[in-house]
Amino acid sequence: MEHFPPVTISRLSQYVGQQVTVRGWVVHLRSSGKIRFVVVRDGTGIVQGVLVKGHIPDREFETFEDLTLESSLSLTGLVKAEPRAPGGFELLVMELKPIHIAQEDYPIQPKEHGIGFLMDHRHLWLRSPRQQAILRVRDEVCRACRDFFHERDFVLVDTPILTPTACEGTTSLFETEYLDRGKAYLSQSGQLYLEAAAMALGKVYCFGPTFRAEKSKTRRHLTEFWMVEAEAAFYNLDDLLTLVEDFVRYLVERVLAHREPELRLLERDLTPLRAVSQPFPRLSYTEAVARLQEQGLPLTWGEDFGGDEETVLSGMFEAPVMVHRYPRRAKAFYMEADPENPDLALCVDVLAPEGYGEIIGGSQRVADLDVLLERLKEYGLPREPFEWYLDLRRYGSVPHSGFGLGVERTVAWLCGLKHVREAIPFPRLIDRLYP
Ligand code: 4AD
Ligand code: MG
Repeated sequence: MEHFPPVTISRLSQYVGQQVTVRGWVVHLRSSGKIRFVVVRDGTGIVQGVLVKGHIPDREFETFEDLTLESSLSLTGLVKAEPRAPGGFELLVMELKPIHIAQEDYPIQPKEHGIGFLMDHRHLWLRSPRQQAILRVRDEVCRACRDFFHERDFVLVDTPILTPTACEGTTSLFETEYLDRGKAYLSQSGQLYLEAAAMALGKVYCFGPTFRAEKSKTRRHLTEFWMVEAEAAFYNLDDLLTLVEDFVRYLVERVLAHREPELRLLERDLTPLRAVSQPFPRLSYTEAVARLQEQGLPLTWGEDFGGDEETVLSGMFEAPVMVHRYPRRAKAFYMEADPENPDLALCVDVLAPEGYGEIIGGSQRVADLDVLLERLKEYGLPREPFEWYLDLRRYGSVPHSGFGLGVERTVAWLCGLKHVREAIPFPRLIDRLYP
């Protein structure tokens, strides 16, 4: 048999009427009289291979009988447009070469499986069309994050994962022994290092894994998640709100422009995503509390919002809502106080619509040395490991602001997922470290 160059299924439209080789995995097998059908996926699409008895050597035809679901193989044949076939093309097979015959007991069958079973088989579950679609949306979101910042002259600065201090509160720190130097902690956020980098480069961002030993078992919490964070010198809270709004809109537009087929496969309603082109409502924390109390939520001024409050608030608006100026005491130590009311922080949380809740947290940072020293005391944080951070306030301190966006929560919202665990290839949850 002549050799034909392997092509990916997504490119078959360019080869109609020609012979090609496709390599992939079996997703479906069917027989009908003298015809055998084998549907194959290769990660870029699916194609139906057709074997007709009498048109190909008997040996090839018999090989079909050995095939099982998820066996890997290569198919060589003539490409034909066939609107009724899954994927829109057929391959009239001349040659079928198994690469590996999968065992008969492939665990994931075309029937309903419980979530625990699927999570235990995450390494195989990823092969299913829904999971592939989610991973492609995630890929687009990650690329769009980088493009957004590069188009605006932000510089990528990689921040460390092993750190000597907490950034976001000491209750959710992962601890590890650091050789003979005592304890190290897995980074909860690259922010503090990014602030140093902003004083060097002006506008910077980082993008990496983040760790929180969250005791919360909710649909929004992972113990390891990916965060993209930006920090800009000379930005105040208003500049930050504008940046954040542009950023979220950019991500949604990119996913709508490039991943519509995946969103359709996920049966995502696109109407609410298109509403993101509207201006984002801006609501102070105090106004938000009033709105929540009107809805009958038992809430007193001063508490941070929990999942329930966020769900209700984000269900009130079509576009993402930006809630600003939370009570300072409910937020992290590094946030600048509002000069008009020092009990408030110059901060913002962005809540995604349709009840998805917080996807972004950000703020203007304390710029003054004495205020920051006072804060460390107030929050019970040791001074010594923060000396380097205090230096930023000793040498040319300027107003600056930044934010962090959680990738999985954003992907869960864009894909319309119920839980963040499907928005990351291998989720780490309080009760899951396998596979
Ligand atoms: O609001 P957070 O804690 O903010 C920070 O870490 C700041 N230091 C960021 C900054 O200003 N540079 O976290 C930011 C975002 C949240 O809005 C949420 O989307 C996500 O990170 N996030 C989580 N995602 C999944 N699982 C968790 N346990 C998360 N905790 C936060
Ligand atoms: Mg937050």
